Amino acid sequence: MGLSNTIPSLLLSIWLFGVLGNAHLTAEFYSKTCPNATVIARGLITRASRSDVRLTAKVMRLHFHDCFVNGCDGSVLLDAAPADGVEGEKEAFQNFNSLDGFKVIDDIKTALEKVCPGVVSCADILAIAAEVSVSLAGGPSWDVLLGRRDGRTASRSDAEAALPLGPDSLEILTSKFSVHNLDTTDLVALSGAHTFGRVQCGVITNRLHNFSGNNGQSDPSIEPKFLQTLRRKCPQGIQTGRVNLDPKSPDSFDNDYYKNLQNHRGVIDSDQILYSSTGAPTVSLVNRYAKSQRNFFRAFARSMIKMGNVRVLTGSDGEIRRDCRRVN
Ligand code: HEM
Ligand SMILES: *[C@@H]1O[C@H](CO)[C@@H](O)[C@H](O)[C@H]1NC(C)=O
Ligand SMILES: *[C@@H]1O[C@H](CO)[C@@H](O)[C@H](O)[C@H]1NC(C)=O
Repeated sequence: MGLSNTIPSLLLSIWLFGVLGNAHLTAEFYSKTCPNATVIARGLITRASRSDVRLTAKVMRLHFHDCFVNGCDGSVLLDAAPADGVEGEKEAFQNFNSLDGFKVIDDIKTALEKVCPGVVSCADILAIAAEVSVSLAGGPSWDVLLGRRDGRTASRSDAEAALPLGPDSLEILTSKFSVHNLDTTDLVALSGAHTFGRVQCGVITNRLHNFSGNNGQSDPSIEPKFLQTLRRKCPQGIQTGRVNLDPKSPDSFDNDYYKNLQNHRGVIDSDQILYSSTGAPTVSLVNRYAKSQRNFFRAFARSMIKMGNVRVLTGSDGEIRRDCRRVN
């Protein structure tokens, strides 16, 4: 036994570490210390979504905006605290007046602190809440890997640099994903999250009325009838108001997003670009997920697990925040 057994298993762990990004997270992390964490989160999200049909979309986006900025460390939840040197990511351009769902995360934290104080991190609450939200909206379920710890810092400028923007080119989108080890398949699968939720008119106004800085012009990749609809909902000069990201089935998690792209009915530039960039590897992935919801769901779950592994804090790094809005 001894060495002959240890070396191959050591090599296997190193290989797994490389493949999965982080081998420390496990689905059973709280099975002894807070077995009801997911049940409690699910109950509170279900209740909150009764009075806000968009809640599941808001909540799942939080996990994405957390993981893309210095890893899945709960930094997106920190309120600005200038005295402690914490810059709120909530004030970043991509998040300000846009990111939402913080209240239900606070409610989950409060409930978990009652049953198992000091155990479940805010970063893990976001990962659990994202899965619960997707499955409640009709999407796939997956085993959420857990064991993240919370960071003690946040960075508005890092958020602004890391988070994708609607008008980003396909090259920029690809590179903003690849810095996290997320490839083109992850980009296309995760963009499928735009199967629910809304976008503010201000985000797409240039696409509708001032494309490439040409006043009155629109993005030629928009189907003409859909363009009319969008222009009616978002007239020139109007930044407020919201439109559905998925005009076909606005609140359910399904593969209609990809069918919309095939019909040139993608809403944000970064959506349509995945299909309208002729010759790009994203085109065949859009076709694949449009054809098979099963394939989309499988790919989405896999990519969410990958995204959830981005630069996580484990072991004795970071802390378990008592209040998700501030460091201990
Ligand atoms: C590929 C690059 C992406 C870009 C450029 C992008 C950009 C945006 C923008 C501009 C909005 C609307 C925000 C607003 O108007 O307030 C939005 C909404 C949303 N995004 Fe993304 N996003 C991207 C990828 C993703 C990914 C990977 C996910 C999750 C895995 C995601 C989840 C969502 C959800 C659920 C909403 C709706 C939120 C709501 O209704 O409040 N997005 N995104
Ligand atoms: C988990 O929830 C069940 C049913 O709600 C309850 O009976 C049980 O005591 C809870 N366990 C813990 C550890 O809180
Ligand atoms: C259109 O875009 C250009 C370049 O971004 C900008 O300078 C101009 O002010 C915009 N025009 C309107 C009417 O918004």
